[in-house]
Amino acid sequence: MTGDPREVAPIGEHPMWLPDAATAHLRGRTVAVRGAGRLLETVRGEASRAGMVFEEAGGDGADLVIEATTDAATAPEGFEVSRAGGATRVRATTDSGALYGWFHVVRLGATAFDDTLPTARHEPQHAMRMLDHWDNVDVHPVMGQVERGYAGGSIFFADGRLRDDLSRVERYARLLASIGINRVGLNNVNVHAREARLLTDGLGIVARLADVYRPWGIRVHLSASFAAPITVGGLATADPLDPDVIEWWADAAARVYREIPDFGGFVVKADSEGQPGPFAYGRDHADGANVLARALAPHDGIVHWRAFVYNHRQDWRDRSTDRARAAYDHFTPLDGRFHENVVLQVKHGPMDFQVREPVSPVIPAMRETAVALELQVTQEYTGQQRHAVYLAPWWREILDFPPFGDGGPSLAETVRGGIVAVSNVGDDPFWTGHPLAQANLYAYGRLAWDAGLDPGAILDEWIALTFGDDEDVRRGIRSVLDDSWLTYEAYTAPLGVGFMVTPGSHYGPSVDGYEYSPWGTYHFADRDGVGVDRTVAAGTGFAGQYPSPWRETYESLETVPDELLLFFHHVPYEHVLRNGKTVIQHIYDTHIDGADAVDRKVAEWDELEGRVPADVFARGRDLLAEQQRSAREWRDHVCTYFWRKSGVPDAGDRVIP
Ligand code: GCU
Repeated sequence: MTGDPREVAPIGEHPMWLPDAATAHLRGRTVAVRGAGRLLETVRGEASRAGMVFEEAGGDGADLVIEATTDAATAPEGFEVSRAGGATRVRATTDSGALYGWFHVVRLGATAFDDTLPTARHEPQHAMRMLDHWDNVDVHPVMGQVERGYAGGSIFFADGRLRDDLSRVERYARLLASIGINRVGLNNVNVHAREARLLTDGLGIVARLADVYRPWGIRVHLSASFAAPITVGGLATADPLDPDVIEWWADAAARVYREIPDFGGFVVKADSEGQPGPFAYGRDHADGANVLARALAPHDGIVHWRAFVYNHRQDWRDRSTDRARAAYDHFTPLDGRFHENVVLQVKHGPMDFQVREPVSPVIPAMRETAVALELQVTQEYTGQQRHAVYLAPWWREILDFPPFGDGGPSLAETVRGGIVAVSNVGDDPFWTGHPLAQANLYAYGRLAWDAGLDPGAILDEWIALTFGDDEDVRRGIRSVLDDSWLTYEAYTAPLGVGFMVTPGSHYGPSVDGYEYSPWGTYHFADRDGVGVDRTVAAGTGFAGQYPSPWRETYESLETVPDELLLFFHHVPYEHVLRNGKTVIQHIYDTHIDGADAVDRKVAEWDELEGRVPADVFARGRDLLAEQQRSAREWRDHVCTYFWRKSGVPDAGDRVIP
C-alpha cells in the first residue's frame, strides 16, 4: 500500500493489517503518554514508530494524550476516547487499556482528530480472549508441524527447536494486541512426546516466548498431556486421585511459575481421539480437571479443559450412539463439581467445526461452570485457506444465538469463561496462506472483544488498514467475501448434514468418505432420503438436550430451520422446504448456484489487478482458481451422488454427470 501497488513488493513477509501506512495519520503529530506500567513503554514505542513527536512536561497541549490512571474508572483493559480543546484523549485504568486505546486510535484513522469525534467507552465483553496454536515442535509424520495448519510451518519452532530469531513472533504479538487478544496457547492440543516436555526441560522455550508476548499484554498457556506424570515424570500412574500424581502436578506448576510468573495455565484434551485421560483410572473429568486446577490455583493459573470428548471408535452399524450427544452426556452430570479455575472449553457446535451446525447444548446446560466458546479460525472444514471464506458473519450468528430463547441472553453473554479460537497462522509470507484469510484472524479478535460488532464493518476496517481507502478495492473485496460463507455452504454438505469430506485431510468432497467409518459422522443417505434423526420421538434424542424452546423447535419438522434440517431429521428427498423446493431440488440448485458464485468471485478478484499489491493479487488469483476447481468438484460429486441415490431428475433439466 505504500507506493505503487503494482510494484511487486519483495514478499519477505506481508504486514497484515498494520503496514506503516496504517499509522500515516499519526506521523508528525504530538503525543503525550502518561502513567505507570510496562505496557505504556510499548505505547511509547508504537508512537515513536509511527513518527509522532513526544511532548515533554505534562503534554497537555499534545494532539494525542494517552493516560493510564485509576481516575479513568474504566473496566480492566477498557478505555475511553474523547476529543476536547484540540486534543484527542485516551484514558484507561490500566496500562493494557491504554495499549488497546492506542490501537483504537490507529483504527480510527484521520477521524481520530476530528473535532466531531464522539466520546466513547470501549470495554471488552470477555476478560479471556485467547488464540490456540496447534503447533508441534517437531514435524508430525501425518499432521505436519501445525495440525490443521494451512499456512506453512510454525512461526515458533523450526528444526525441532525454538527458532533463534523470534522477531516474527514479536510482530505477531503486536498484531494480536492490536485486535485485543490477551492469551495464546503455544502448542497442539494433541500433545506428542517432544511437546510434553515443554512442561519440564523445555520450560526455557516457554519462558522465552512469554518474554516476547509480555510487552503486548499477552499471557502464554501450554497444552499439557494428562499422562505427563508418567511420560515425563516417571511415575507409574496418572490417576488424578493418587497422592504422588497430585504432588507431581503441584510441583510441575510451581516450577513453571518460578520461570514464568504470569503464565496463563494449561489447555487439556483428555480422553479424546486417543489422548490420555482420567477414564483409564475409573475417574471422571471433574477429578481430572481439578487435580490440575488445584496445582495452578495458588499461582492464579487456569485450566482450559476441553469438552470435545466422544467415542471415535464407534461401530457405524450402531444407530443408537450419537457423537453429537457425547459432550453433554459426559459433562452435564459434572456441573458444579469443577474447581473455580477450571474453564470448560466447548466447540461452538456439537460435532466439529462444520460449516453449519446448531450451537452446542453444553453451553446453556453448564450453569455452575465457567464455559469458554471455542471457534476455529483455521479453516479445517471451510476450505483450508485455499477457499476465500469470511467467517465473521457465521461467528456473529453463533454469538448472537439466544440459547434460552428469544429475549434471553445471547450465547456471547452466556459464556463466562471467554472466547478461544484455533489460529490460522503459519510461516507463510502472508501469515495465513490466503491473504483474505487474514480478515478472519482480524475479525476473530474484534468479535472476541465485542460480539456486537457488525461483520461488514469489521471487514471494512480490515480492508482500510490493510489496503488503504481505495473504494474500488473495498467494493471488490467485499463482493468476494461478503456472502462467501454461505457460498461455501451452498457447494459443500447440504442442510446441516456435515462432513462428506475426504477422510484424513478433510479437504474436498467424499460423500461416503466417513459413512462406514468409526468416527460417528454419518449422513445415512439411501434411495429414499437423507439426514440424521436426532429427535426425542424417534431418533437419538439429541434434540432433547436443548432447553426450551429449542428442543421443541428442533424436534418438529414444522419448525426446524431449513438450514439445520438434515442435522436433526432424516427426510425423504421429496420433503418440501419452507421455500417450496424439495430437498433434492435444493441440493441440485445450491450446488450449481454455489459453484457459479465462485466463477463470479474469480471475475471480481480479477478486477482488482493493479489495485492491490501484485503479490497479494497473484496469490489470490491462484487460490481462487483452486477454489473454482474444488467448488466444481464438490458440485459434481454431491449432485451426482444424490441423483444416483434418488433417481429424481433435476427439475431444471441440467446435465448432472
Ligand atoms: C478435529 C481435528 C483434529 C483436532 C480435533 C480437536 O477433529 O480434525 O485435528 O485434534 O478436532 O479439536 O481436538
